[in-house]
Amino acid sequence: MPSPRIGILTAGGDCAGLNAVIRGIVTAANSRGMEVAGFAEGYEGLLNPQTARILSVDETRGIESEGGTIIGSTNKGRFQLRRGPDGAGSLPDSLVRATRTALDQQRAGALVVMGGDGSLRTALHLTRAGLRVIGVPKTIDNDLESTDMTFGFDTAVSRVADAVQNLRTTAESHRRVIVLEVMGRHTGWLALHGAVAGGADATLIPEIPFDSDLLTRFVKESERRGQRSCIIVVAEGARAKAGRQIRKQTASGENRLGGIGGYVESIVARTGRETRCASLGHLQRGGPPTAFDRVLGQQFGVRAVELCADGMFGRMVSYRFGSVTDVALADAVNRRRSVSPDSQILRHAKALGLFLGE
Ligand code: F6P
Repeated sequence: MPSPRIGILTAGGDCAGLNAVIRGIVTAANSRGMEVAGFAEGYEGLLNPQTARILSVDETRGIESEGGTIIGSTNKGRFQLRRGPDGAGSLPDSLVRATRTALDQQRAGALVVMGGDGSLRTALHLTRAGLRVIGVPKTIDNDLESTDMTFGFDTAVSRVADAVQNLRTTAESHRRVIVLEVMGRHTGWLALHGAVAGGADATLIPEIPFDSDLLTRFVKESERRGQRSCIIVVAEGARAKAGRQIRKQTASGENRLGGIGGYVESIVARTGRETRCASLGHLQRGGPPTAFDRVLGQQFGVRAVELCADGMFGRMVSYRFGSVTDVALADAVNRRRSVSPDSQILRHAKALGLFLGE
């Protein structure tokens, strides 16, 4: 590597474990005599390279157990790829030039991007424009191809599981059905794992559009069997067989997934059962990472530094079959990993008696 300095940034929505990756990168880089410059607020920081700062081992000691990211992030900034008429994404040349300039100004020989699908697509574009980039897969959705696990997922699953257990006690007291809406975008990994971990009764995921009549029948039967409570975990991207995904307009005019929990509540209420709905929202992303995410995050950081040192750019760190490895960025992005009918977790969830909407 020509320069003993690595530039890093955290892009897109945050998740637990980002600081663990930062800690891993800084420690591994320093032990090889390399410095790390952290660009602030995601890709946006490349447009203000003077705000980047050198991260020291001392400053990052202990941050592996802290949520969030010490260098900030921006979800959907100016570096978001624009879809052309052919569906392919592109980045204006001016932003590629700005990235080159920012890395030169910081004397960084490589850029490590911690991000989900959108941010890593931008990383791939920068790689194809000739820049030395490495990706580290981050998202609570766990929807990236070529890695069995993204960091942040395990923590989010724990949050969902805790919420299911907490809702259970109040639902039991009042003989209620409680619908819990969780994140996950267009995949049901988070809902499914969270429902199994928390011992929910049902989970509705985007990959299996649910039958409303079967859902009400399931709720009535659970009551007939003598169950006092019923907890239904619904992924934000789920939809009824005859319906569409439900979206809501945010105050800033964005059109985001959200609201399916209320819809499911209204369907279940037709049974006459007292029904409530809770939405877990950003509680799934905030707070300290689980031990698993602390370990995985730091290991991902170490591997990213190894790739930089070996000059293996255009690669993404990955977790496969229990080991940390790396894959081509091009094989990981633009291909959503969904819950397929033969996914083991799906078969096991059914075997465990979870109702899946069909
Ligand atoms: O992709 C991660 C994620 O948390 C999704 O599960 C969710 O739909 C989205 O980001 C929420 O984004 P924001 O923080 O911008 O509301």
